Amino acid sequence: MVNAAFVAPYLLEATSQFVLAAARLPGVRLGVITATPLERLDPELREAVAGHWEISDGLDPQQITDGVRGLSAQLGPVERLIGILEQLQVPLAQVRDALGIPGMDETSARNVREKSRMKDVLRAAGLPCARHQLVHHTDQATRFLDHVGFPLVAKPPDGAGAKATYRLDTQQDFDSWLRAAQGSPSEAWLLEEYLTGREHTFDSVTLGGQTLWSSVSDYVPPPLEVLRNPWMQWTVVLPQDVSGPEYAEIHRAGPAALRALGVETAFSHMEWFARPDGSVAISEVGARPPGAQLASMIGFSHDVDFFTLWARLVLRDEFDRPDRVYASGTAYLRGMGRGRVRAVHGLEEIRRDLGQLIVSARLPQPGQPASSSYEGEGFITVRHQDTGAVREALDRIISGVRVELVESD
Ligand SMILES: Nc1ncnc2c1ncn2[C@@H]1O[C@H](COP(=O)(O)OP(=O)(O)O)[C@@H](O)[C@H]1O
Ligand SMILES: [Mg+2]
Repeated sequence: MVNAAFVAPYLLEATSQFVLAAARLPGVRLGVITATPLERLDPELREAVAGHWEISDGLDPQQITDGVRGLSAQLGPVERLIGILEQLQVPLAQVRDALGIPGMDETSARNVREKSRMKDVLRAAGLPCARHQLVHHTDQATRFLDHVGFPLVAKPPDGAGAKATYRLDTQQDFDSWLRAAQGSPSEAWLLEEYLTGREHTFDSVTLGGQTLWSSVSDYVPPPLEVLRNPWMQWTVVLPQDVSGPEYAEIHRAGPAALRALGVETAFSHMEWFARPDGSVAISEVGARPPGAQLASMIGFSHDVDFFTLWARLVLRDEFDRPDRVYASGTAYLRGMGRGRVRAVHGLEEIRRDLGQLIVSARLPQPGQPASSSYEGEGFITVRHQDTGAVREALDRIISGVRVELVESD
């Protein structure tokens, strides 16, 4: 029996799927450390977990340490400490180091969490990535611009979800970004050379430092484009066959990057660019599973329950390589404008023509507020053996479905 603690600051639906799979894994006794009180847990989840420890700040290493000690008293010594949130990876590693729990240590967690350090490590290992500079003041930023030229990308050095990430095309963009950045002079920013080309993910399983399996997906268009165009409906595609020449280089560079960063046992989520000249640039690495939709699509493409596959890996060091039998993809539905959803148009035709391909959907509901995230108001996920059929279906969805928003005065 393995005793494990799962830190989930808030037990929202996306996280709950991971917690539930971990709690139901045979041979595992799982306690949750969370700000959600026991009586507010979903009944299914309350039934499945073996322990619950409430904390007020789900990212505070001291509170997590207290939680692990508390759960150890309830369950027996905690041997695994896990969590899926990007922002949790360093605190979790600090607590593991302090309590002698196996798993990723603080050095490796910082390598994957701090974007500037990550690129330093990758570059030192001879792995290609965008030129970058962590900047603390105007001179540094201007020097980097002089060196690299436009366009640049400016982002927080430890961001997630593309928050506060900007593309700077002109001197005017640069000056106004600089003025805003100077508003909080204590903050450091990361400036990067702008990468062109197609953006992809490389999601993979590493066990004891060996990459055993991976999944590539295509973002169409890249997330930053989606972010800059709030009306843009977009797609993520998992081609059925990712053994072709366009993916050959990432199958070499991806595992090499994980090795350089010190990722031992993890389901990790990497983003990379296929540049117009055919070369690869690694964009970022998270030593945690991808977000909910991509996780589900990996499940659909391989006919497995992704969440159980992940839980077995991180809690029991077990992994059975799944075959990729289907292509799958998600179309993200986004309204144009502001306010609330009034109606969704074009669904009838999609249901009629593509119903057989649709495996999952969350349709925007009338009255629902417009989303502030680039994931939009809803999504439709499709699956088929043929990648072309998936791409075609997604194109039909994003061009045929229209989310109508109305200003809610
Ligand atoms: N150097 C870059 N060149 C081009 N686009 C970039 C660059 N850095 C980031 N982006 C775009 O911004 C998005 C968010 O940046 P990323 O570094 O992945 O941060 P986050 O951790 O917030 O996801 C990326 O998915 C990509 O589309
Ligand atoms: Mg990213």
